[in-house]
Amino acid sequence: MSRKPLMAGNWKMNNNIAEAVVLAQEISNQYEKDWPDKVDVVLCPPFVDIKPVRTVLEFDKTNYFVGAQDVFWEEKGAYTGEISVPMLKDCGCTFCIVGHSERRGLFGETNEEVNKKIKALLAGGIQPIVCVGESLSVRDEGTTDEFVCAQVRAAFAGLSAQEVKEAVVAYEPIWAIGTGRTATPEQAEEVCAAIRATLAEMFGEDTAEGMRILYGGSMNVGNVAGLIEQPNIDGGLVGGASLNAASFTALIEACM
Ligand code: PGA
Repeated sequence: MSRKPLMAGNWKMNNNIAEAVVLAQEISNQYEKDWPDKVDVVLCPPFVDIKPVRTVLEFDKTNYFVGAQDVFWEEKGAYTGEISVPMLKDCGCTFCIVGHSERRGLFGETNEEVNKKIKALLAGGIQPIVCVGESLSVRDEGTTDEFVCAQVRAAFAGLSAQEVKEAVVAYEPIWAIGTGRTATPEQAEEVCAAIRATLAEMFGEDTAEGMRILYGGSMNVGNVAGLIEQPNIDGGLVGGASLNAASFTALIEACM
């Protein structure tokens, strides 16, 4: 089955509103209108920038998606500081990153919380981009595939094939994030193939074949081609290189 590539920019905690509007405008300026037929593109700015970024894209009729970097699973109520699925939809989000290693590592997010967030997003019609990935010590122990596939099982526990088919998985080895040290295409492909095999065990071959699996971790203009030509890698989740319009556009073009 051929899967449409997806290139997602994770801006992390970068860009105030003015800066976000400038970057979105620069990215939009390079857009060609036949690109959305070949690749899905998602910009994931900080919460406060989502609406302004969406407005730039809408004004330009740039057919890119906007996503969030996190969400809370309850719809509304006394959850100080949190943002719900309906709120994200109201801002025009169609994607949301979940379980990023920075959230797991710095903010103590657990597999159970990741699972609740994914369920809330899928129920609300937002496509989760579910991040999984091992630390350097897990890789050195030689247990990467087991570790990552256990994260995948926990993330999608209790969901049906029908429900998960809109979800995207991002394999992001922690030792490659923001370090300039990328996994080799062979290393990334091995884990992405194991992730797809796990999805097939859980939800059947057809569903697993239709789901997109991204690579993330120091993806850049120099290494993108070798990564996305792998049979089980369907695009990228990009941090640093998504903060510059020229480099992000080059990554988009590499998917076509
Ligand atoms: P990086 O970040 O491309 O800067 O390594 C990727 C990510 O954390 O999603």
